[in-house]
Amino acid sequence: MVKSIISPSLLSCDLANIATDAAQMIAYGADWLHMDVMDGHFVPNLSFGPPVIASLRKANKEAFLDCHLMVSQPANWVGPMAKAGANQFVFHIESEMPEGGAKALIKSIKDAGMQAGIALKPGTGADAIAEYADDLDMILVMTVEPGFSGQSFMANQMDKVKTIRERYPNMNIQVDGGLSPKTVDNATAAGANVIVAASAIFGSDDQKGVIDALRASVDK
Ligand code: DX5
Ligand code: ZN
Repeated sequence: MVKSIISPSLLSCDLANIATDAAQMIAYGADWLHMDVMDGHFVPNLSFGPPVIASLRKANKEAFLDCHLMVSQPANWVGPMAKAGANQFVFHIESEMPEGGAKALIKSIKDAGMQAGIALKPGTGADAIAEYADDLDMILVMTVEPGFSGQSFMANQMDKVKTIRERYPNMNIQVDGGLSPKTVDNATAAGANVIVAASAIFGSDDQKGVIDALRASVDK
């Protein structure tokens, strides 16, 4: 059985107080911190990158930094992200691959001391990761088009989650986009065990309650 992992996305925190908000998430029971790195090219938005992650790492030596790279050339960021203190490097299979393809990229991520994951945009099917699955620590199924917090959960991605869960019973399967206590049951029933949420947590005045509710859905 895979375990429940709740990974609040700091994209919706108060970015001027990221270390404080991150510490609060951990105090409320979050397992990981989800860091959305965007380059304004792979997605139409800019967020933050290695310098901010390095600052957060300095403030918090222990937290597991689950980094979601929405960038055109992920291979360029493996070294800088590892140096900044990332624990997990999740790249999009739709982005540009280095020489040697996704296999080489996964190897470079692991050689740099990080866990490796592949993310799938809503239009990308489960077969896209078939030849890499054995080397992966996690598969991320996007439940919105990547780029922004606060979008609506795409329930039509649940067949993909089910397929991936059937194929890989022990894999961490992450869902990201529009997850809240209202939508999470769709995702956990399909087999997701790693839940990302930004606006549902940071927009609530009971942040711990939301984290608890998300976990309860995975655990039931
Ligand atoms: C979107 C990001 C998400 C985003 C989720 O591209 O990958 O992690 O922060 O935000 P919510 O939970 O508000 O949909
Ligand atoms: Zn994300």
